[in-house]
Order: sequence, then structure tokens, then C-alpha cells
Amino acid sequence: MNAPIRPMPIPIGLLAELTHRCPLRCPYCSNPMALDRRSSELETEDWKRVFGEAAALGVLHVHLSGGEPTARADIAELTAHCAKVGLYTNLITSGVGQASARLPALFDAGLDHVQLSVQGAGQATGDLIGGLAGAHAAKLAFAAEVVRLGLPLTVNAVIHRGNIHEVEAIIALAVAMQAKRLEIAHTQYYGWAYANRAALMPTRAEADASVAVVEAARERLKGTLVIDLVLPDYYGLYPKPCSGGWARRSLNVTPSGKVLPCHAAESIPGLEFWSVREHDLAEIWRSSPAFTAFRGTDWMPEPCHSCERRERDWGGCRCQAMALVGDAAATDPACSKSPHHARMVALATAESVDPNPPPYIYRRIGGTAAEPRQGEPVA
Ligand code: FES
Repeated sequence: MNAPIRPMPIPIGLLAELTHRCPLRCPYCSNPMALDRRSSELETEDWKRVFGEAAALGVLHVHLSGGEPTARADIAELTAHCAKVGLYTNLITSGVGQASARLPALFDAGLDHVQLSVQGAGQATGDLIGGLAGAHAAKLAFAAEVVRLGLPLTVNAVIHRGNIHEVEAIIALAVAMQAKRLEIAHTQYYGWAYANRAALMPTRAEADASVAVVEAARERLKGTLVIDLVLPDYYGLYPKPCSGGWARRSLNVTPSGKVLPCHAAESIPGLEFWSVREHDLAEIWRSSPAFTAFRGTDWMPEPCHSCERRERDWGGCRCQAMALVGDAAATDPACSKSPHHARMVALATAESVDPNPPPYIYRRIGGTAAEPRQGEPVA
């Protein structure tokens, strides 16, 4: 029997990585290993064209992200343009650097929503993990201003060994900040986080306890706070449908204009990424080699191809398969059906119980994992 013909999916979200510049230096940074420099960033008019093309393609919401997106002086102008072409805007920010200073102009420009990252529940953890003294205090002030302006606030906390004992306190912090939503996201280990995995991996018992804390809080805080939970991959049974499935729901545009199916796709060697400098976004979505490489189910190996979950998991995470198996087309080792799953769990278990984890490899533009600034004191 022939496979059913499926219509081309339409993306609903665009992650606009406006810049890789960032005052924070988080060891789990989701930006690529090689960061784009300011001199290679798209100009204001390029981004405006991209947002117009995104709206025409059917995209509904734009995540204005980075790095720290408020490092760009034109952030309010770009936000106003998104509003003009009918896109819902979500500012994904660290709340430090220029964030507070630029917030009033962003509000005036029609910004719809703010997602603020926190690195811990208090100053000690927050400043240490973000690698910046004073960062946590700046976030508190920023959140208060967001709420005062009447903008909806989501708090995002990436969870790992260094802050997993604070999940209950992070939930309390989100309530105190008057956030409407909290995202408790266990670290995804590819790119920079993969280089720091041994420093970041929690034990299974810690991961399980954190999930129980979230579930109890969800009940307790019904009507006050919605909590989204991204489960820890290494201790799971099935993989997550990464990005909602490869080239199915969203696209990422890097600061220099490359269009990626997911934020870590550049970690897969041999993929060809097209740029908005040369192609229309719709053409890239439909036809660029990186988007067609793992779209749908035809590319899947066994056991994925005949698995009843194949259109639920969409094969899991290609970047994780690349990092752990050395083959982006392999079954995600987070799946218990993968022949590599046991090795993945053993790796995580061994790293998580090491009483002397390595120091963080902090992030900075121009730095590499091979030449890290290891364990620097918070400046
Ligand atoms: Fe690239 Fe998961 S991060 S597919």
C-alpha cells in the first residue's frame, strides 16, 4: 500500500535569534557552539522583511530571542513591525543588560508577552549559574516592571544539578513575581550543555523528586500559576517530539540569517542551511535541504519507522542522536527502544553521582569549549 500523501505542514512559530550577544554566560546555553559576531548580524530592514515573509507563510507568533535580544538598539522598532504585520510577539530575555531600560519602548511598540529566564531561586545560585554578579537582583526589578505595565509574564528556569534542589523555591519565586506561567525545563544536553554535561547532570532520584514537586504545585496553584514541565531526557522512556517534530511547526533564524529547523541543528555535520539573505522564508521552509532532511517519517530507521508512536515523538531529537550516537538519523537514544539507551542512562548515572563534578565551562562570544574559561569566579 502506498504511504498517504500528507500536506506540507505550516509553521506557527518563528524563533528570531536577533543577536548572540548576552551579558550572561550560562553553562547550558542553547545557542550554537560558534556564536555569530555583531558584525555578521542581519540589519533592521532584513529582519523586517523576514517578519513580513513569516506572516505571509502563516506564522502566528515570533519569539524575539538571542543571546539577549534587548542588546539590539532596534528591538522596539522590530517589535512594532511584528505588530504591524500581525505577529504575536514574545520577548525571551535574561532581564539584565539593556532589558529594563528598553522595556517601556517595547511596551509602546505593542509587545504582547515577556518570558524571563531565572537561573536559580536566589542571588547566590542565580548569579553563580548565570556567571554575572547582580543578575538575580536585576531580574527581580525587571519582572516587577513587566507586571506593573500589565504585560503577561512567563518565567523560565532551566533545571540541572546546580539548582534542582531549588525547584520548590523557584515556583515560589514565580508566584511572588506574579508570573502567569512557569516553565521548569530540565536541561537538554547538546551544544554547550553537552560540553558541561558532567557538571550539570542530576541524579535520577533528584529528577524524580523535582517532578513530584512540580506535580504537587500544579494542584496547589490551580488558577494562580500554570507550570509547564520539560522532563529530563536521559531518565525517560520515550523521547520528546523535539521542536514539535523536525520542520513541522517552527523555524529558527540565526543572527546572521541562516534558517534552521531547530536551534541546535548546526551541530549536525553535512546539513545545508539556506539564508534569508538569498532565499524567501517560504522557499526555505518548503525546499531547503536542512528542512527536508528529517521531515515526516520516511527518513526513519527501525525501530522508529514501524513504531506506533512515530507521529507522536517524530523520532525525538536529531541533535541528541548526533551527539550521542554520531548519526543524526539514528533513533534518539532517549527512547528505551534504542540500542544505545542503556549506555545513555549509564553515562548519566555515572556523571550524576560523581562527588567532584567538573567546574562550569562558562559561555562567551569568541570562547570555545576547547579553550574554556573554566570555573571563573563570578565577576
Ligand atoms: Fe535539534 Fe532536538 S535540538 S532536533
